[in-house]
Amino acid sequence: MSEFIPPKHIGFIMDGNGRWAKLRGRPRNYGHKKGADVIEAVVKHCHDRGVKAVSLYAFSTENWSRPKEEVDFIFDILRRFLKKYKKKLIANEIRFLISGNLAELPEELRAQCEDCISATEVFTEKFLNIAINYGSRSELTRAVNALIASGKKEVTEADVSAALYTSLLPDIDLVIRTSGEQRLSNFFMWQCAYAELYFTDVLWPDFDDKELDKALDWFASRGRRYGGI
Ligand code: IPE
Ligand code: IPE
Ligand code: MG
Repeated sequence: MSEFIPPKHIGFIMDGNGRWAKLRGRPRNYGHKKGADVIEAVVKHCHDRGVKAVSLYAFSTENWSRPKEEVDFIFDILRRFLKKYKKKLIANEIRFLISGNLAELPEELRAQCEDCISATEVFTEKFLNIAINYGSRSELTRAVNALIASGKKEVTEADVSAALYTSLLPDIDLVIRTSGEQRLSNFFMWQCAYAELYFTDVLWPDFDDKELDKALDWFASRGRRYGGI
């Protein structure tokens, strides 16, 4: 059997927290809490299987349309997650990155994100990129404006890639979306141009090592041609 070549970069659309809670007769926020609880193990298993970069969709630019109470709860969960996780990022030599507009987030969460980014900036082998207040269209618009402001009259694909939040990361090879939805929902559209798209009915709080291995097996079976034959 040929050797397993892991994806360099996996993007997770962590969907289905609300439905997971509803199935149990609990409030949606309970699902968000359970969803946050599985992140650490999933990220560890990705890195253990040789994946260099993991991107997680935690809050989209469209998610502001949810009730304020739910939005505040999601930010609170992220705050708790980072508080606990910072030590582990450093111990495991994982470089932490954020994709998204931090300026619009609550001050404390923004400061914590910036702290985790600077505390891990020496690491180069493993990456964790969390997409918060992220949308592809907003990211591309911001990148174009930055390129215009830099005085460029014409840009290359490399210029655009370098102006995105993910400038340090390879393109996404594999997108994993849980909960049965089959769409990208404004997730890294430039970076996913040639990604394999894996959809599973499993709801995010139930996603585990076994489910990740299934997705990686499926990825290994794909023929990647990039337009060739
Ligand atoms: C994904 O779960 C988490 C976020 C969007 C923050 P959802 O909250 O979208 O869960 P469903 O899709 O309603 O089940
Ligand atoms: C996508 O999930 C965003 C995140 C997982 C953070 P949504 O639940 O917001 O996506 P739609 O609305 O079903 O497309
Ligand atoms: Mg959803």
